[in-house]
Amino acid sequence: MLLQHMTWGAVEAYLKERRDILVPLGSTEQHGPNGPIGTDAICAEAVARRVGEQAGAIVAPTVAYGQAQFNLAFPGTISATARTLMSLLHDIIVSVAEQGFRHVYFVNGHGGNIAPAESAIQDAYHQQRGGPPIRCRLRNWWDFPEVNVIRDRLYGDWEGIHATPSEISISQAVLAAAAPELGERPALTPQSPELLRDHERDRHYGQAAHRETFPDGRIGSDPWLATREAGEELIEAAAGAIAADLARFTAEDG
Ligand code: NI
Repeated sequence: MLLQHMTWGAVEAYLKERRDILVPLGSTEQHGPNGPIGTDAICAEAVARRVGEQAGAIVAPTVAYGQAQFNLAFPGTISATARTLMSLLHDIIVSVAEQGFRHVYFVNGHGGNIAPAESAIQDAYHQQRGGPPIRCRLRNWWDFPEVNVIRDRLYGDWEGIHATPSEISISQAVLAAAAPELGERPALTPQSPELLRDHERDRHYGQAAHRETFPDGRIGSDPWLATREAGEELIEAAAGAIAADLARFTAEDG
């Protein structure tokens, strides 16, 4: 169920039955030579919507802006500072907590969001006064073994860590006919495992250094391997894993 399509009365009725809500987190940033700017938001939203269908859970509007300062030298990137993102996520948590939601599940599609989002969650716990305690969980859609087995099988070392063929596949599946053409694959030189490790979880430097180090916007990936079929398989696997995780999460404290 999409929150945007519900009435307040329908939400009130939902809260008499259950108290969980999904919030997709994305980013608005370059995704390599052939990936759409909205890739992270598109992926998180597609997976969260599928979970919502499977679990009968409410899906809040996608937070489409993330912490992506390192990509600002690529046109089209719009970044929120970490503190802006923290404030917004805090406000989302407080809003739903005051209405009786107990379990907020963030489905994340962007590494740069992890640190601010986890910090916002801790601050919300710190500041909550009165009312039933809220619980939040953040998971990246690629976190789960069921998803990683597909990424490894299809792409191996060419999955990389940004503009990955997996995320571009999901965007291709979601956008279908409107997806950008992948175009001709140029010769790609693999980036060193040490370099990729240093940049994991989007621990990048500033925007000028970032564009210089990764001139076409990819990080270790081969997005030309993306297919719609893979995207559909990945959405289904991620949604199944998250639906199961959501069930465990909501069962923790009733
Ligand atoms: Ni991405």
